[in-house]
Amino acid sequence: AFFAEPILSCGGQIVPPEGFFRDAYAHVRAGGGVCVADEVQVGFGRVGSHFWAFETHGVVPDIVTMGKPIGNGHPLGAVVTTPAIAAAFANGMEYFNTFGGNPVSCTVGLAVLDVIAEEGLQARARRVGAYLTDRLRGLMDRHPLIGDVRGRGLFLGVELVRDRATLEPAADEATEIVERAKERGVLLSTDGPLHNVLKIKPPLVFSEADADRLAGTLDAVLAEVG
Ligand SMILES: Cc1ncc(COP(=O)(O)O)c(C=O)c1O
Repeated sequence: AFFAEPILSCGGQIVPPEGFFRDAYAHVRAGGGVCVADEVQVGFGRVGSHFWAFETHGVVPDIVTMGKPIGNGHPLGAVVTTPAIAAAFANGMEYFNTFGGNPVSCTVGLAVLDVIAEEGLQARARRVGAYLTDRLRGLMDRHPLIGDVRGRGLFLGVELVRDRATLEPAADEATEIVERAKERGVLLSTDGPLHNVLKIKPPLVFSEADADRLAGTLDAVLAEVG
């Protein structure tokens, strides 16, 4: 099986290139494998343009895993798959889970879906995400430490580098920026294998005013650290 997040989260908020998933899925399926999309971080409208991040790549997975936002804080997870793959579990192994399918959690999950739809949170992620991306990209002129601003909707990463040509990671600076932003009441954290990416995945109720506060705080902190 091929397991992948449609946009890599802990890998550093990396958006795979156009065509990557189409080709990868085709190769895996040609070899008899199944394709699993992990939508735990990127699903439920956060990427703005689509409800599921796999849709941004024009692919349809065989299995989708879901968590975190599915319960908006309530502990809940789900797996969705095709009838054929689901039927393969009916082989006598008797998968059992004490709390699986419990009605309280299912009710929470349904309420979350209602709120996402009624409050237009996917469209909001698209609108505020585009605004925040512009604000963050605008900081690149003044702050050479910012090597890249990437992502989709309200799933963004700001890669910090000491040199835009060599991409030498600015991990210590990233840690310092997170600390100084915290002193100003803005919570951020770092991500990626080199610990030099500021991850930005706020609640979907995030507003343009919140984006202004975040960008303004980063501007001030980068002026001190950069
Ligand atoms: C991308 C991703 N997939 C899967 C998981 C695991 O989800 P759960 O803790 O609901 O099993 C996490 C949790 O951190 C995650 O970030």
